[in-house]
Amino acid sequence: MTSHPFTQATARELYRTEERLAARTSALHRAKTHGRPVADVIADLALEYLPACPPDVVADIGCGRGTTTRVLAERLRPRCLLAIDASAAMLAATQVRLAGHHASFLQADFHALPMRDAVCAVVVAAFCLYHAPDPRRVTTEISRVITPGGIAIMATKSIDSYSELDRIVAGAGLDTDAAARESLYGSAHSGNLPDLLPPGLGMAHLEHEEHRFTFRDPDHLAAYLATTPKYRFPSGLTGDPVPLAAALRAHWGDKPFCATSTVTYLVARREGAIG
Ligand SMILES: C[S@@+](CC[C@H](N)C(=O)[O-])C[C@H]1O[C@@H](n2cnc3c(N)ncnc32)[C@H](O)[C@@H]1O
Repeated sequence: MTSHPFTQATARELYRTEERLAARTSALHRAKTHGRPVADVIADLALEYLPACPPDVVADIGCGRGTTTRVLAERLRPRCLLAIDASAAMLAATQVRLAGHHASFLQADFHALPMRDAVCAVVVAAFCLYHAPDPRRVTTEISRVITPGGIAIMATKSIDSYSELDRIVAGAGLDTDAAARESLYGSAHSGNLPDLLPPGLGMAHLEHEEHRFTFRDPDHLAAYLATTPKYRFPSGLTGDPVPLAAALRAHWGDKPFCATSTVTYLVARREGAIG
């Protein structure tokens, strides 16, 4: 069990509204210089490993704003698509993004999925398992709801993702302990993801891809840093990109900042006779 800002009860606060995640995703997308679109990779893997297509029931757990969910709807065309998240605001955003697609939206904790046993042909868990204080409980739940022969596709990040930013933040005197603080991805990361699989869920595919980012100047980097709960900035700077950018610029000048993250994809198949 791990405990830090991404797994504590206060993590719920991060997803109380859509704005923080939208700002974070937008800053990262604008900075990205290398790495395939994650939702497309997940859909490609689903199509490659699915026992039958179109699948009957597909669930996207921790669906966030529904960016992956929509690609699953468009590319897999399941009979039934379940978007599941703990946050009502995220589900509302997903519902807007999925307009015109047939889907159900369920507010639930992924430690106790609101489905019967063995109903899903595919369960996707993208960039959400690192919010679980006990991710093995979540993967056990995922296994429970998958049909025999069905698959889980999990995506997460390396434990050292964006660690270059720790040095930039510390160097500017904004949080001198930044590099010593626990990674936000410590609960479920590239290194431990295979170990989180419960008995009965066998790994079929494991793949790592380096994603590279260049934040073009202090304003761009501050837009991302303001959404990151890892840092303990001086009072007045937390969550506010304007003074953060000014503080970064005062130390580093007007320059670009680079960072990397490894994205890991794991496909696991539920063992047992296909009914
Ligand atoms: C980074 S977002 C996920 C992004 C999304 N899967 C995608 O591919 O774009 C993480 C999501 O996990 C959800 N989450 C965190 N803890 C959860 C829990 N215990 N049960 C269900 N959802 C949870 C958050 O509300 C948030 O929407």
